[in-house]
Formats: sequence, structure tokens, C-alpha cells
Amino acid sequence: MRTIDWDDEKGVVKLIDQTLLPVTYTIVDCSHLDELIDAIKRLKVRGAPALGVAGAFGVVLACMHVHTETELDAEIERLIHARPTAINLSFGVERALQATIHGRTMHEKVRFALEEAKRIAEEDVLVNRKIGEYGSELLDDGDVVLTHCNAGRLACVDWGTALGVVRTAIEQGKRIEVIACETRPLNQGSRLTTWELLQDKIPVTLITDSMGAAVMRDGKVDMVLVGADRVVKEGIFNKIGTYMHAVVAKAHQIPFYVAAPLSSFDIKRSYKEVVIEERSPDELLFCGEKQIAPLDVKVYNPAFDFTPFELIDAVITEKGVVRPPDLNIHT
Ligand code: MRU
Repeated sequence: MRTIDWDDEKGVVKLIDQTLLPVTYTIVDCSHLDELIDAIKRLKVRGAPALGVAGAFGVVLACMHVHTETELDAEIERLIHARPTAINLSFGVERALQATIHGRTMHEKVRFALEEAKRIAEEDVLVNRKIGEYGSELLDDGDVVLTHCNAGRLACVDWGTALGVVRTAIEQGKRIEVIACETRPLNQGSRLTTWELLQDKIPVTLITDSMGAAVMRDGKVDMVLVGADRVVKEGIFNKIGTYMHAVVAKAHQIPFYVAAPLSSFDIKRSYKEVVIEERSPDELLFCGEKQIAPLDVKVYNPAFDFTPFELIDAVITEKGVVRPPDLNIHT
């Protein structure tokens, strides 16, 4: 099934619980906004494009359970702030909310929001396919691609952005291999990227994040290809560790590419204005149930970092590949 979808029979949002992968494949239903917000915060659903769709379906759930505009505003506020860094969440919320304007009753608003949310989900798949088409031109037969975090179908509705580029290149008959960094502390790389690539029988090798520099120096990587949570005036935000790979790629003259839909673009904003989500210290103090650090140690746990355009060779969007100096584009 798709990463996130609407179940017409039950009238609920259904999503793959990504916290349980790769051990268990479980679909969870969210019938109330509280459940969806909890799923977003716990990363049951995650990745910028999937968060955009979650935001839009969240508006539907909100409209289903409120009676007044004031109540709706309060629910939307909670939804938008569930995670602060990926711009797609507010993009999806705002589009669905805009659609509700056409409804006079809450019942009508539900209908308009749902139509729009489904449209956003369909668009996401098409956009990823386009990104795949443009991005695959950058890949040659035999290339090895290093990626960080998960910018695959699990981060979107289907197909993926960075991994969508890999999938499209493979569809075209190119032999491509992926090196997946595990992506501490929540291991989206080892748990999700490897899982979804193996499902498609795409060759993938797992490494720790700290091995990135050595494999690049040793000539084992042809390009770095990642997704983005937000593209701003001066660069991109993506999973913590992305900046480190960009610096190393530059040092070894390895191309560094970012695949991102225009819905992740917030190009008028400066990086200084973006809130980087800080997550619970428990993510570093524990590995599952097991304690792996002294509980009284001070912990710093930002979920994302900023990579400036100087370190990026191109951003792949659904409208084409943009290279510096054109990266300071306005959408
Ligand atoms: O914390 P996450 O798992 O939501 O972070 C996801 C990422 O950083 C992805 O690389 C990004 O959202 C791009 S997904 C196409």
C-alpha cells in the first residue's frame, strides 16, 4: 500500500507505521486528529512529502470533529506545530484549509478538504516521477549513490524523491547501487532505506554515518543524493548529518545532489528563520529499551542541519535540474 492514504470505507487516515519497520509491517488507522498528530510526532509517518499529505488529511479529521471555526483554528494550530522543520506540513495544511473555504457547513468542509488532500497525494506521486525523470539523467550505468536518511517511497506517498531518482534510473536499465548511511539516532537509513530498496531488489550496502568520509575518500562513491525538508534562500535543511556528507563530498570532488519537490521550497526565507526540531534526549540515551549512555549526561539532539548551496551541485525538482548560481530561484 501507499505510505499514507485515506480509507473511504472507514473514513480514516491509514499509514504504514514506520517506527515498527523493518521488523513488522503494520498499518495504523487514525480516526481522530490526536492520533494523527501523535503519529507525526513519533515518526510513524515522516519525510517531508508524506508530512504534507498527512497535514492535508489532518485538516479533514479536524473538520470532522469540530463545530465552529474557532475550534477548527485551534486544531489547525496544533497540527501545523506537530513538527517544525519540513515546510511541507504547513503546505499541505494550508492547501486543504484553503479548499474548505468553499464549504458552508463543517460537513461540506470535510468534503472539500478531502478532495484536496487526495489531489495532493496524487500530485505527490506524479511529482516524484518527474523528479525521477530529470534526476536519472545525472546517473550513469554502474554508479554508486550514497544517501542519508530516507528520501524514498516511505518518505512520500510512493516512489520517492532521492530514491525515486535511483528507481527511475534502474527502470531505464542502468545498474545503480546504493550506500545507505544508518542515520543516527532514529536510523531511518538502516531501518527504512535498506528495507524499501531490498523490497525492490535494488542493491544496497549499509554503513554507519561515520564511515561516509572513508568510503568517499576510497573512491567507492560516485555521487551523494539526498532529499530535503526545506529549501531556503541560501541552501537546504535535511536530516542531521547531511551537512557532514556535503563537506566531505566537496573535499573529494564528488557531486552532491538534492532531490526535492517545489512543495519543499520556502525560498523567500533565510536559513536563520527556520526552526530546527530538537528531539528527546531519550533518542540518544536509549537504543530501544536498552540504556546506552549515562542518564545524567547533557544531550543535544537536533533532527536536521543546514547545507549551503556552495556545497550543492544541483537541486532536482519536478520542473528540472537547477544548478548554482540559479539555485537562488524564486518559485
Ligand atoms: O525526521 P524525518 O525522518 O522526517 O526526516 C526526513 C528527512 O530528513 C528526509 O531526508 C526529507 O524529509 C526528505 S524526504 C523525501
